[in-house]
This record gives sequence, structure tokens and C-alpha cells, in this order.
Amino acid sequence: MFPTQRPRRLRATPAMRRLVAETEVRPRNLILPMFVLEGVSEPVPIQAMPGVVQHSRESLRKAAAEAVAAGVGGLMLFGVPTEKDATGSGGVDPDGILNVALADVRSEVGDSIVIMSDLCLDEFTDHGHCGVLDDSGAVDNDATLAIYAEMGVAQARAGAHVVGPSGMMDGQVGVIREALDAAGYTDTAILAYTAKYTSAFYGPFREAVQSSLTGDRKTYQQDHANSREALRELALDLEEGADMVMVKPAMAYLDILRTIADHADVPVSAYQISGEYSMIEAAAANGWIDRDRAVMETLTSIRRAGADQILTYYATEAATWLQS
Ligand code: PBG
Repeated sequence: MFPTQRPRRLRATPAMRRLVAETEVRPRNLILPMFVLEGVSEPVPIQAMPGVVQHSRESLRKAAAEAVAAGVGGLMLFGVPTEKDATGSGGVDPDGILNVALADVRSEVGDSIVIMSDLCLDEFTDHGHCGVLDDSGAVDNDATLAIYAEMGVAQARAGAHVVGPSGMMDGQVGVIREALDAAGYTDTAILAYTAKYTSAFYGPFREAVQSSLTGDRKTYQQDHANSREALRELALDLEEGADMVMVKPAMAYLDILRTIADHADVPVSAYQISGEYSMIEAAAANGWIDRDRAVMETLTSIRRAGADQILTYYATEAATWLQS
């Protein structure tokens, strides 16, 4: 008449729960995505992401140093240029905002943290697509690859330890690896955005990078109805030389993350994207959820689903909590 099995015994006290916890989030597991805006002397708040800013070059340095002090594992930089054009030439220009910011951050923090760089054209193109367009207005895969290769070398030269191709063009990892090696950057690693889904949750990011996109990215980002093709993308990225792989977004794709983690023989990252951040902030601001607990619960769930690293706008703050 009494239960013979009592799982609650292992939940009875904080000490017991601490002893048996399977999953841990450590500061070193976290990667902070950062935006840097060309031509400003003060950081500009992003309305849709309360607490996140478009940095000036100076405030970016400072925030990078703070992340290092908090024990954060990596930084992922996004550049927001003042001028855009059809081919995204600001992305390959050594004086383009992302490349100068990479050099700034590298000189500020050196090798004390892993400096990563978004390798994509969408922030730099006037049409807002991740690649260049052909005469019919479609995204031209192979013409884009040549630019990605050049962009990867520019970012490595500027100081990126890791480049993160996020444009979902076929063959992108391979051409970037080849270009990096040919330019002597054999030690620059590639974090492949392997399973990147087209998502409504990128919404706030569009403001963060002042995106000029009209339309969508459905011809290159994955359809959220599919999981099998994530494994195909994984196989291709590994074959092409990816050093690490990523699943993005995180929370609506934890099943994909688990599948990738079970199959990959390289470190696996997941990106808690802008909309995931904004949802927590909006609900917390309304008093509907406990913000800090929600943040840790989401980060822990992403780790539990198989992520070695998590890209999150909470990286520095969460790392600070975890350090104390
Ligand atoms: C593309 C890119 C995007 C994000 C990171 N890299 C936007 C997109 O694919 O539409 C989104 C990140 C976020 O929402 O936090 N360069």
C-alpha cells in the first residue's frame, strides 16, 4: 500500500539535488554574441532586446574585457555597417566595421578568450540576403562562395580565432577552409552553422543589425518541418572541414540538437537567438515569469539536450552568477 520506489528521496534537500545533478552550465560554456555599429561614439540600445546594445568600437572593447573577467568562453561578433551594397563589400574590406572591430577586440583581450566572427553577407548587403543575387533576384550560391572565401581570410587576418559561416550556402565550409589554408591561416577554426532553420524568432536580430531584408530566407535556411536534413548538413560540414558545429535556434530545436550531439564527433554549439532572449525579457517585464530562473532553466535545458557551448545574450550576466 506504500510505494516501494521513492524518487523524491533524491530531491529532498539542496545538498542532495546538487550531488545528483547531471547537467551543469559553466561560464566557459557560454559564447556572447555582440553587435558593433559603425560610426557611433556611444552604444545604441536595441529596443526589441532590452539590455542588449549595438556597441561603439570603444564600448565593444570594454564589454569584451568584462566577458573575459566573468570567465565567458567565447565572443561572436556581428558588424553593422553604415553603408551597404549589392555584394556586401563591407564584409571583405579590411577597414569594414566587423574587421576593424575584430582587430580592436583581439588587441584588447588577446588570446584570453576565443574570438569568433559571423561570416555572412546579410549585414552588409543592401537587399539583406545572406548571399549575392543573380539576374533573376535569386540568391546565387556559387557566386556567394567566392565572397565568403575572401571574407574568411579578411576575418582571420583581422584577428578572429574562429569564423562562423551562417549563410547556409552549399559548400561554404569547404571553400572557406581552402581559402584559409591557402592564405596560411591553417590554425583558424570554423564553427559551422550546420543546422540553421528559418525562424520567426530571428525577428529582434533584424533590428539589431538594421537588416534591409524584405522577404525571407526559405531557399537557403532549413524548413522547420524537417529533421533528417540536419544530419545530411552535419555530414557535409564535417566532410568539408568544420571544427565545430551549431544548431540554431536552440529552444524550438532541442530535438535537432540532441540528434546532432549524438552523431557529431566534434564540439556542438547551440544558439539561443534574439527572439528567445526577447521572449524571456518581455514575459519577465510583465511579471509573468522569474527572469533569472527562466534564464538558467533555458541554458541548462540547452546543455542537457547536448550543447557543449551556448551562444547567448545572457553570457556575461549568467557567467557572473555562476562564478559567485
Ligand atoms: C545571419 C544571422 C542571423 C542570426 C545570426 N546570424 C539572422 C538570420 O539568419 O536571419 C540571428 C541571431 C539571432 O536572432 O540572435 N547572419
